[in-house]
Amino acid sequence: MTAEPSVRGARLRRNLGRLFEVVTTDVLVWEVRAPPRTPRTAIDLRIAEVKPGADWQAVVPAERRRSTRPFERRGDTGFVAFEGDRYVGWVWLSRRTHRDPWSGLHFKLARDEAYAYALWVEPDVRPRGVARALMVTMLQSVAADPALTRVYGWVDRRNRESQMLLRLLGFKDVQTVRRAHLLRRRGRRVPGSSRPAFGPLSRQGRHKTPTTTTEPQP
Ligand SMILES: CC(C)(COP(=O)(O)OP(=O)(O)OC[C@H]1O[C@@H](n2cnc3c(N)ncnc32)[C@H](O)[C@@H]1OP(=O)(O)O)[C@@H](O)C(=O)NCCC(=O)NCCS
Repeated sequence: MTAEPSVRGARLRRNLGRLFEVVTTDVLVWEVRAPPRTPRTAIDLRIAEVKPGADWQAVVPAERRRSTRPFERRGDTGFVAFEGDRYVGWVWLSRRTHRDPWSGLHFKLARDEAYAYALWVEPDVRPRGVARALMVTMLQSVAADPALTRVYGWVDRRNRESQMLLRLLGFKDVQTVRRAHLLRRRGRRVPGSSRPAFGPLSRQGRHKTPTTTTEPQP
C-alpha cells in the first residue's frame, strides 16, 4: 500500500531531520553566588566528583571510558551519579577553551569561567531529581572555587526539560546561536548566527576583557 503524499512528505522530513537539522540553541550563564541546597531525590543517590589527575578508572564505568577520554585529556572535572553501584548519570565541567565536536560550539573562556556540558541521566531514572542533584553538586563545587565567577551551559531551545532545569537553578541568557547537526552526532555553528555578537561563542567576548583575568593588575 502506498502512503498519501502528505504522509510521505512528513515521513521524508522526519528522516531527513535525523540526518541533518538546524537547531536554535541558548547559551546560559550562572554567576557565582550561594548555590542552591542539595535537593532530595526519589532514589538513593551518591555523586562522585572526578577531579583532574584522579583515578578515573575507579569512578567512570568501563563501558563509558572511551567517551570520557577527551574529557580526561583536557583536565575536566566530572560529577558522576550512582544508585548503589550502578551509574545513573553525569555532568562535566571544563576550564579550557575548546570546540566540542558533538555540539559544534566553541566556548572561549576567560580565566574565571567554566563550561558545563554532557548532562545526562539514564532514561529509567528520569525524572526523579537526578539531574537537579548533579547540577547543584556541580554549582556547589564552582561556588567553592575562588578562581571561578561564572559557569556557562548550552541547551537547545526545544529541550523543554533542560530549559526548565537550568533556568530554575538561576541560569540566565547570554547568547543564542543556530547550529547544524549531522546524524545527531556532529555539530557546526551556523556562521554569523550568534546573537548578540559579543559573548563566549564569539571572537569578542568577556574572554577578551583584561579585567576578567585573575592575575594581579599593574
Ligand atoms: C534533561 C535531563 C538531564 C533531566 O534529567 P532528570 O533527572 O529527569 O531531571 P530532574 O528529575 O532532576 O528534574 C529537574 C527539573 O527538570 C525539569 N524536568 C525534568 N523532567 C521534566 C519533564 N518530563 N517535563 C518537564 N520538566 C521536566 C523540571 O523543572 C524538574 O524540576 P521539578 O522536578 O522541580 O519539576 C534528562 O532528561 C536527560 O538526560 N535528557 C537527555 C540529555 C539532555 O537533554 N541533556 C541536557 C543537555 S543541556
